Amino acid sequence: MKNHKPSLFTPENKMLHISKWDAIIFLLFLVILFLNTPITSAKEMQLNLPLGLDASSLKIPADNPMTEEKVALGRFLFFDKRLSRDNSISCATCHIPVLAFTDGQPVSTGIKRQQGGRSAPTALNRAFTTTQFWDGRAPTLEAQSVGPLTNPIEHGFLDNNEMVAKLNSIEGYKKQFKAVFDTPISLESVGKAIAAYQRTFLSGNSAFDRFETGKDQKAISDSAKRGLKLFRGKARCGICHSGFNFADENFHNLGVGWGHEAVDVGRYNVTQKQKDIGGFKTPTLREIEHTAPYMHDGSLNTLEEVVAFYNNGGVKNPFLSPLVLPLNLSEVEQKDLVAFMKTLSGKGWQQIKAPDTFPQ
Ligand code: HEC
Ligand code: HEC
Repeated sequence: MKNHKPSLFTPENKMLHISKWDAIIFLLFLVILFLNTPITSAKEMQLNLPLGLDASSLKIPADNPMTEEKVALGRFLFFDKRLSRDNSISCATCHIPVLAFTDGQPVSTGIKRQQGGRSAPTALNRAFTTTQFWDGRAPTLEAQSVGPLTNPIEHGFLDNNEMVAKLNSIEGYKKQFKAVFDTPISLESVGKAIAAYQRTFLSGNSAFDRFETGKDQKAISDSAKRGLKLFRGKARCGICHSGFNFADENFHNLGVGWGHEAVDVGRYNVTQKQKDIGGFKTPTLREIEHTAPYMHDGSLNTLEEVVAFYNNGGVKNPFLSPLVLPLNLSEVEQKDLVAFMKTLSGKGWQQIKAPDTFPQ
């Protein structure tokens, strides 16, 4: 049989005879379309989600769509030390890309070498979440993104006006904000740009994802398979570290930090409800191998210590979550849990690094 498809451009295809007038009208149409497209309406950017992350769970606010230009601006802001009172601190000082956006310290050190009481959590996979910080005090990633700027022991600006004025004194930033937001620089637009950039910090396609979603039986070891079963069963971890991001984004008191003189009351600061005393947000376990030390106060150094902590039923206190119970795990079971957690190291963020030059 002859494999002959009639070409659209052969004379026998009468449908496609284009007259001179058709062509002119079509060209006019294109010109009108071009003139009607405002130059500022940049194309929306699609996030390229690695295996295992759920696109339907993305939380991108309608008033802050992702665009290449906005993300590029957010990248400058995230890494620029001039975005601190004395040019010494950027977001990346405490959220170091190669440490999966943590700083490797029990508690972070900010401007003038001052220390806070909490450990820097990873900034990965925040695109899927709303409440931010250990106590959830920021209701959006946009609000979170400007929080550290006026924190006296982080970026150290006295107030938002001082921060905005400093950015305004840099001509290159003035131009970029105008191009992206078509408004003068404001607290709101700084938050939007940094939040959009942070939404590109993704971790997925881990050995676990290749096993679970990709159905690759060989992706994880037998020990990790046993660990996964424990995680979802006897060890109770999956009750709180649930879903594809291993976090219910809810607040629980595990007793971390109890027994010291000053207890961080966590979520209670936000709600003033007694049930929230000592409650902290369940963090994601993705990249957990790279984000030691652990817990809101960085008090546990290794994943083995974390599992031992849970095996003991947390630390007794009047507000301990009833979900935390002694587990009676054997040595091997504890090792299996650790092996499983190490399968959560993935891809989607290793390419992220500081720009070589900044707006001047
Ligand atoms: C001095 C160190 C330091 C600097 C600078 C800093 N952070 Fe943080 N970051 C922390 C600490 C500590 C926390 C936890 C604070 C808390 O929960 O109360 C945190 C929390 C966060 C969270 C919340 C993550 C979660 O799971 O809820 C995000 C996102 C984040 N920071 C992004 C940023 C951005 C963006 C900047 C720059 C504008 C920044 N950080 C500057 C130390 C720092
Ligand atoms: C009741 C809910 C709950 C259960 C059950 C639970 N977790 Fe957690 N997990 C949390 C919360 C909340 C935190 C943060 C606590 C804090 O810092 O005060 C946390 C912290 C962690 C951290 C440290 C994360 C970091 O970034 O510092 C690891 C690792 C961890 N859990 C693993 C596990 C494992 C393994 C199990 C099962 C043995 C488990 N969790 C069971 C809620 C829970």
